[in-house]
Amino acid sequence: MLALLWVMVTVMLVAGGGPEGAVQFLAVGDWGGVPDPPFATPREVATAAAMGRVATDLGADFILALGDNFYYEGVRDEWDPRFQETFERVFTPGARELPWFVLAGNHDHAGNVTAQLAYGHHSPRWHFPHYYYSLRLSLPGTNASARLLMLDTVLLCGGSDDFGAGGAPQGPRDAAAAAAQLAWLRGRLAAARHDRYVLVAGHYPVWSVAEHGPTTCLLRLLRPLLRHHRVTAYLCGHDHNLQFLEEGGVSYVVSGAGNFMEESQSHGGAVPPGSLRFFFGAPTSPGGFAHLRLDAHAATITFLEATGRVLYRVALPPRDL
Ligand SMILES: *[C@@H]1O[C@H](CO)[C@@H](O)[C@H](O)[C@H]1NC(C)=O
Ligand SMILES: *[C@@H]1O[C@H](CO)[C@@H](O)[C@H](O)[C@H]1NC(C)=O
Repeated sequence: MLALLWVMVTVMLVAGGGPEGAVQFLAVGDWGGVPDPPFATPREVATAAAMGRVATDLGADFILALGDNFYYEGVRDEWDPRFQETFERVFTPGARELPWFVLAGNHDHAGNVTAQLAYGHHSPRWHFPHYYYSLRLSLPGTNASARLLMLDTVLLCGGSDDFGAGGAPQGPRDAAAAAAQLAWLRGRLAAARHDRYVLVAGHYPVWSVAEHGPTTCLLRLLRPLLRHHRVTAYLCGHDHNLQFLEEGGVSYVVSGAGNFMEESQSHGGAVPPGSLRFFFGAPTSPGGFAHLRLDAHAATITFLEATGRVLYRVALPPRDL
């Protein structure tokens, strides 16, 4: 396993080149249903339906899954019925079978993440080639490209017991594997210097005002790298709401409302003053997710409620190359 962690996986994704001249995708976190019948929450069902509608109306080339794919203890093996019960039967995209690009959260690590990697052999739309990997996105109609770096923040920072005191990750189980992932990230960020947009995605937040708050380990390991390499945005889940923050020239997207919705802003004082631009966690809401559109001129991020209502939209400029 350790040897595998050194492998750099690069997935080449050539966008369809539709009339929009953009690469577009949906980002949803913490969508993983429940371990008992019916194995999906009403919020997961509503969010899945809205994602299907938005993929058609706004356009989407793929879906990004930001972890906690199977509550509460991941899956047992690659034949676990939860793949059907919580994923295949809930996310029925209709005519268009959008590819999913997946990363793992703490609840996935409570089970068998190797099985989630292997599930790609069973489902044509499930792409989870490695714990961490790189996606190269070509912006149609231009020579420009974007880079999406998928991380495993549990391997980087440790597990987190949602129900225990504090719940902050207490450090990686395998320090060598964590160091290897960080070295890989440094290399990929350096190699991305000509990409018009660079997005980094992981399960744990760097910044968050909600129940879990900022992740100390990621503030130490990730934040300086994101700033130094002028990363466009960091995408995550873990906190069960929608947030947009800006700090040090980097944007931070929290999209963890695929299954639960929580309104607590108990860590509002733990983020830099003025950094929070948008928060949505209404407990009566049927869920939500984010839509991203990358074109030659801007990276436009739209937060949507599962009703289809647009909650917030922001356009980020290309990196100053
Ligand atoms: C994890 O899943 C893989 C793939 O299905 C399987 O080979 C392995 O035995 C599982 N591990 C455990 C501990 O069950
Ligand atoms: C892309 O690059 C090629 C070769 O450098 C150039 O001929 C072409 O005009 C470029 N296209 C666009 C849309 O910039």
